[in-house]
Amino acid sequence: MKTAISAPNSAWIKYWGNRNNGLRLPVADSFSMTLDSPTVEIDIDHSETLTVKSINSDGSERILKESEVGRFQITLDLAKKYLETLDVPEAIPASVALEIRSHIPAAVGLASSAAVFSCFARAIQGLIEETINLTDEQTSVIARLGSGSAARSASGGFIALRAGEGDEIGSSYGEQMADENHWVLHDFILVPSMEEKKVGSTKGHASAQSSPHFSQRVEDIMERRQKECIDAVLGKDFEKLQRVAEEDCDDMHRVMLTSNPPLDYLTDVTHRIVRDIKAFRDSEHLEVFYTMDAGPTVQLLCTEESKEKVAEFANNQEDCTIFTAKTGPGARLI
Ligand code: DP6
Repeated sequence: MKTAISAPNSAWIKYWGNRNNGLRLPVADSFSMTLDSPTVEIDIDHSETLTVKSINSDGSERILKESEVGRFQITLDLAKKYLETLDVPEAIPASVALEIRSHIPAAVGLASSAAVFSCFARAIQGLIEETINLTDEQTSVIARLGSGSAARSASGGFIALRAGEGDEIGSSYGEQMADENHWVLHDFILVPSMEEKKVGSTKGHASAQSSPHFSQRVEDIMERRQKECIDAVLGKDFEKLQRVAEEDCDDMHRVMLTSNPPLDYLTDVTHRIVRDIKAFRDSEHLEVFYTMDAGPTVQLLCTEESKEKVAEFANNQEDCTIFTAKTGPGARLI
């Protein structure tokens, strides 16, 4: 048996839209920082058939829906196909037994699928390490098959997801640009509502290309934004990072809003927080930026120097549940 642990990531160049939905091959590059919490742990072992047991942080069992177990089955089947391309078709001869212990509230915009599937991929890497020594990039491919953004939590620190080209399973993977010791940034996660979101990202990705702004977005990312974001992180240039991350976040939400059907994930509370943090940043000269994924949750990313003031701002948002995290080490075996 092997055990892996992982956490979500904070996306600064957003992944939205696939060239192949079944294989989660993205149209464009994306970029994120891996977080240190909240975490998920998975025990894995060989088994004749797939079993998935999920335990909440209070020790109670969470009964998984058929579709949730099905997603593990599909991911495992695709991972086996990928292992065939690496010449180890028998690395997982039958199936696996999983026990998942999650400390992440489901579907509140905290990217629980990114943590779960990066953890699953790392657990597989550990399970088969005597047959094949998968690299972090190969492990990220397996994570991507379960959830696109999970490919970016397979390693720690700052990760660029390379879109790649074509329909090969291994053609898109996460690449570490700098590890978690390069730059410690803090993430205040403001969750306005504990309600499950209406349209999951898997469905959202499938309609992204119906937006008239989609192709311009892809061009901007591939020609400029991804590189600007990487340069800003490597050069620890917070102002540059703030500019490109907020530009990309706003742009993704514009694509969502103009898709068919339109997807409006942000609420009045989200808009209020964004407006207020901009004003607070200007008046206090803070290094902080906002970002939102497929839900009303706002993440406020800031430097060590600005942390105390941003914490004060976050704690004043009385209608939100607050989580805190910082740059983390990514999926690993424990
Ligand atoms: C808006 O990785 O959640 O958070 O592959 O269907 O699981 P699936 O999609 P997912 O998409 C993430 C979308 C996003 C932006 C991002 O994390 O880059």
